Amino acid sequence: MQKTLIIIPTYNEKENIERLIKKIRSLSVPADILVVDDNSPDGTGEIVKRLAKSDKSIHLLHREEKAGLGKAYVAGFKWGMKEGYQKLISMDADFSHPPEALKNLIKLCDAQTVAIGSRYTKGGKITGWKWHRYINSSGANFATKTLLRIRAKDVTAGFKCYPVEFLQAIDLDTIQAAGYAFQVEMLLLAQNAGFKFRETPIVFADRTAGESKIQGELKKSAQVVFTLAKQDKTNRQFIKFLLVGAINTGVDYLVYYGMRFLLDLLLTSVGFQTIRQVAKAFSFIVSASSNYTMNRIWTFRSKNRNVAGEAGKFFVVALGGLTINSIVFYLITAQLHWRDIWGLLFATAAATLWNFFGNKKWTFKKT
Ligand code: GDD
Ligand code: MN
Repeated sequence: MQKTLIIIPTYNEKENIERLIKKIRSLSVPADILVVDDNSPDGTGEIVKRLAKSDKSIHLLHREEKAGLGKAYVAGFKWGMKEGYQKLISMDADFSHPPEALKNLIKLCDAQTVAIGSRYTKGGKITGWKWHRYINSSGANFATKTLLRIRAKDVTAGFKCYPVEFLQAIDLDTIQAAGYAFQVEMLLLAQNAGFKFRETPIVFADRTAGESKIQGELKKSAQVVFTLAKQDKTNRQFIKFLLVGAINTGVDYLVYYGMRFLLDLLLTSVGFQTIRQVAKAFSFIVSASSNYTMNRIWTFRSKNRNVAGEAGKFFVVALGGLTINSIVFYLITAQLHWRDIWGLLFATAAATLWNFFGNKKWTFKKT
């Protein structure tokens, strides 16, 4: 039988914690409970201490001061790993995470999979929130997904089951988020370590007792997500790819005008149209080669010896990019009848994304 631990961080949850623990016990969820209390002034810790006396499956981890949700979880995970638990669940104390979903969450979680109690998957929802919390939460989810490309629907979820294999695969001491961004950082670490996600819908009901501690933490959490995005390798490569593209557009123009000027000076008997074509062909060759070379060396740091093959692939991807560019432009302007500017913008964006991922996943794929 696999041992499971439910970790519940608390700060001033005296109206909730005893009811929640009793509820979990009444559902006979096959798991022990660890409450990580940051010395709550309202006496939450004392309540748990009393409950732990008469029930050996209930534990209290007391911490001297309020150090944030993330720090509390790290302490809880370390405790649970030392005690030999194989599945470790994170859960709020305030009934927003329905105890009825625990059994399912445990079932979905395995050695390769982090299970998520999800508000943003089919069947999941949120009740009782004021409108601004909806905006905050869906905004945070959207921004986080775009910036970090985490392949889960609810990336800020707090109700999750982690296999100990994952916790062993990472270094808990290097986690950067002390507070709420911890939830996001854990999913990013799991995805990067090759773990899968499975989501089970939950109805997240706003707390009816006590207070949320999330106010005032939003800015800090956003900063952490931004820092994580800056550290992300794909994001850094994408920025470099854009820069290289911009630089070589400049190279293209410079070489074109330079060549046109020179040829015009030297070849007095050749027509201007021909000079233009030659200059354009020349500037294309120079800027395309330098584009390829800079991406090879700087953006993707390729060590592939087969430079000709690699350059060929780069060219094929670029041809695909050109095709996409004109198809998207055609669809938006001729089919949707939107303004040209939108056609240009979406066509460039689509082609750029195609070129970037085509080169990352094919041309410069690490073998
Ligand atoms: N030990 C400890 N230390 N516990 C804390 C701390 C802290 O500094 N801050 C918050 N907690 C506890 C609370 O007592 C509660 O049990 C749990 O962490 C969640 O805190 P809430 O204040 O109720 O969070 P929320 O409802 O605003 O946020 C929930 O939803 C977010 C997504 O919308 C949480 O599940 C978040 O993790 C989640 O990201
Ligand atoms: Mn809450």
